[in-house]
Amino acid sequence: MLHEHESAIEKVWDFCEEHSKDAWNVPRDGGRFLFATAIAVGARNILEIGTSYGFSGLHLAAAAKVNGGRLTTIDADPRKVKISGEHFRMAGLGGVVDQRCGPAQDVLGEVHGPFDMVFVDAVKEDSLAYFQAFRDKLADRAVILTDNLTTHDEARFGDYLPTIRNDPHMVSLTVPVGNGFEYTVWAR
Ligand SMILES: C[S@@+](CC[C@H](N)C(=O)[O-])C[C@H]1O[C@@H](n2cnc3c(N)ncnc32)[C@H](O)[C@@H]1O
Repeated sequence: MLHEHESAIEKVWDFCEEHSKDAWNVPRDGGRFLFATAIAVGARNILEIGTSYGFSGLHLAAAAKVNGGRLTTIDADPRKVKISGEHFRMAGLGGVVDQRCGPAQDVLGEVHGPFDMVFVDAVKEDSLAYFQAFRDKLADRAVILTDNLTTHDEARFGDYLPTIRNDPHMVSLTVPVGNGFEYTVWAR
């Protein structure tokens, strides 16, 4: 059953890659890690900040479908929202994706938790602002994955990484898969 979902993503991946030249996207192993994590924790309500062309969102949406849930994904660029929407539909995932267009700092005020899983992958310098906007929307147990820990200097994330690593409700470590994820487990 899981392989069927992976095949559906594989068919759309080439279309995504046509648009990859102007964007940083998760590579295939990073996407598979997101898919596997979401399945493992049974995430039903998943949030993504930074849809771009849908590379990561395809994996998150496929896992949401397996888990009987949905993906809410936000991007500030209307052109990317339109193109990624086509990719979600091509993969048969349009029905489980709620796409929102606008700056995440604003849109997060309108989306409904509680979220079991969050993927943070937009402007690195704004990561703390995103976190502050979704912290109160986390489920009692949740996993937060943040991209680009091995491709970008940690200083780019400002106070975000020290904040989540020192939060008494969180355990956080860097996992060197794909572009490197900060893998953070939240328990209220
Ligand atoms: C690195 S890309 C996301 C890649 C995507 N997660 C993937 O792996 O396929 C970052 C995206 O964040 C979007 N973005 C930039 N500022 C944003 C903001 N304030 N709110 C939401 N999205 C934003 C950009 O338009 C861009 O598409």
